[in-house]
Amino acid sequence: MGKDKLRRFAELETLDRVFQPKGLFLDKDFELKGKWGNEVFGNSKPIVVELGCGRGEYTVALTGFYPDKNFIGIDIKGARLWRGAKTVNEEQILNGAFLRTQIEQLAAFFAPGELSEIWITFPDPQPKKTRENRRLTSPRFLAMYRSLLVPGGIVHLKTDNRTFYDYTLLKLAADNVTIHRQSTDVHTEFPDDPLMAVQTTYEKKFRDQGFSICYVSFSFQ
Ligand SMILES: C[S@@+](CC[C@H](N)C(=O)[O-])C[C@H]1O[C@@H](n2cnc3c(N)ncnc32)[C@H](O)[C@@H]1O
Repeated sequence: MGKDKLRRFAELETLDRVFQPKGLFLDKDFELKGKWGNEVFGNSKPIVVELGCGRGEYTVALTGFYPDKNFIGIDIKGARLWRGAKTVNEEQILNGAFLRTQIEQLAAFFAPGELSEIWITFPDPQPKKTRENRRLTSPRFLAMYRSLLVPGGIVHLKTDNRTFYDYTLLKLAADNVTIHRQSTDVHTEFPDDPLMAVQTTYEKKFRDQGFSICYVSFSFQ
C-alpha cells in the first residue's frame, strides 16, 4: 500500500465525525443506529446520506446548500472518503459526517425511517447479469431504501451510465414509486440548477469523455 494511502488512513482515525467500524461485517447493530441526530449532530434535523460518496463532493456541497439538514457520506474506500472528511473538519462543517462501510449493511447503521433522503452518485454500474443484485438500484437495495426512509423520503440518482439509468427506470416502473424529476442530460436541461451543477470526481471524468449525465429523483408510495 502506498505511503499516501497509509497517511490518509491514519489521519481518518483522528478526524471528528468520521465513523469506521472495525471489520467489514457487523455482527450487531452499530451503536449510533437510531441516534445519529442527537449523538452526532446534536439536533433532530433531517438526515441525508450519499451512497458511494467517493471524495464526498455532494455531501460537502449539500451541507452548504441546506444548513437545516445533516449529511453523511458513505463509502467503503477510506482513502477517497478522507478528502470530504478532511474538508468538513478543516472548515468546521458541523452538519457533515462520513461513514466508512459497505452499503449492503445500511440497515445495521440506520433505524427504519431515520433517513430523509438518499443520494446515489455515479454508482458502479455492475453490467454483468450475474452481479445484478449488487446494482444500487436493484430490487433488494430499493427495498432497503424504502424501509430506511421517512414516508415521502426522496432518492436521487445521478449517473453517466445510460444502461444503468434505463435499468433503474425499469425497476422503478415495477415498484410503487412517484418520480419527481428525470433527465438524460441534466447539464443541458437544468443549466441553472445549483443542485445539478455540483460535480463529483467521476462526473468530471465522464463528462470529459463526452458522456451526458442522467438524473432521476423519486419517492416510495
Ligand atoms: C464510481 S465511484 C463514484 C464515487 C463518487 N460518488 C463520484 O461520483 O466521484 C463508486 C464509489 O462507490 C463505492 N462503492 C461501491 N460499492 C460500494 C459498496 N457496496 N459499499 C460502499 N461503497 C461502495 C466505491 O468505493 C467508489 O468510491
